[in-house]
Amino acid sequence: MTLRELIAREQDGFTLARDFYTDPAIFEQDLKRVFYPQWMLAGHIARIPKAGDYFVFEMGHESVIVMRQAEGGVRAFHNVCRHRGSKVCLKAEGNASVMVCPYHAWTYNVDGSLRAAPFMPPDFDKSSFGLKQCAAQVVEGLIFVCLADEPPAFEEIAESARPFLKLHGAAEAKLAARRSYPTNANWKLVVDNFQECYHCAPSHKLYSKAHSRDKLLAAGAGPGSGPPEAVARYEGERSAFRKKAEAAGTWLDPVVQKDKHKLWSMGRQPIRAGALTESEDGAPVSRLMGQFRDYDGGQSGSVFNLFSYFLASNDHFVLITFSPRTVSSTDVEFMWFVSPEAQEGVDYKVDRLIKVWDVTTLEDKTITEDNQAGVLSDHYTPGPFSLLEGRLASIKRWYLESLS
Ligand code: FES
Ligand SMILES: [Fe+2]
Repeated sequence: MTLRELIAREQDGFTLARDFYTDPAIFEQDLKRVFYPQWMLAGHIARIPKAGDYFVFEMGHESVIVMRQAEGGVRAFHNVCRHRGSKVCLKAEGNASVMVCPYHAWTYNVDGSLRAAPFMPPDFDKSSFGLKQCAAQVVEGLIFVCLADEPPAFEEIAESARPFLKLHGAAEAKLAARRSYPTNANWKLVVDNFQECYHCAPSHKLYSKAHSRDKLLAAGAGPGSGPPEAVARYEGERSAFRKKAEAAGTWLDPVVQKDKHKLWSMGRQPIRAGALTESEDGAPVSRLMGQFRDYDGGQSGSVFNLFSYFLASNDHFVLITFSPRTVSSTDVEFMWFVSPEAQEGVDYKVDRLIKVWDVTTLEDKTITEDNQAGVLSDHYTPGPFSLLEGRLASIKRWYLESLS
């Protein structure tokens, strides 16, 4: 069956047919049409504070070197040697005054230009063989890269997120921990799992304890993601938080965007009655950061796209990225940030800081891998979405539209 025929057979309100989760040829289309045109959250400037500091970010078949420049800016380069195409940077991170290709020792400067290429003919023009640049931009410390030849506009999303990032002091934040949770599942299963909270009660005991039950039902996958009765039940809690945050000067209106699929959003919500931060017991896990002078009991979320998230409490925030690698594997990365003044062991303990999302993400890895295993069966057929999975229906519409 052709891709067009497969798309035509899809039924709204149901999960996708098996091929969309398992067929390597469809995965290639996913990369080109759906994933590479995203502005992908790759990291934070705190990971590369000094000139020559770099980290390598892998997406699909692509590898990008994100490097701090001598004048302080950030550039991203395709990790492909201009000689015969070897990967240049083999380490995941480090500091380098030059980048030397391991194959024949072509040597590149921190700005990507070619510095030396031994035994090339006299007419060889070094200036035409610098590393190819990849589109990159920094928004309040968050580094985004885009693999498309003509990257789409990102202005509206970045500017909508900026007040939220500023409120939480994102630009100055200190990186406290980073964890990877490589997941053996198609990226759509990973993303869908993150975009619904239908599974929160059965699969996430700790996460469900850390958050208000009414909120998880009404807005567990973002504002308005639950059915109207749940949204109505949650309204009192939401408006009480809003009043409190307004009085403290920490309220920001949710961003209502025009994208018909509503795949990006920004907003603030209460955590749960009595909780000061998103932690196991609701008690602080570090010191206040950004513009907070006192705990307001809230949490901010910025969904830049399906692959890139910022979730912030008053005393820490997490950056989350999902990067499709093969048809059945996805990189999942979490980074935890605290106030630049916070000292490990004094103001925060990494174990306590990361507990809720570390436990929750390990659970997500398991359920998503089990999901992939089930979908591989000949007896899998698409199943219907619940009232708590409305977002998955719109993601599916957007995905099929992007693909066709
Ligand atoms: S492939 Fe890099 S120097 Fe030859
Ligand atoms: Fe989950």
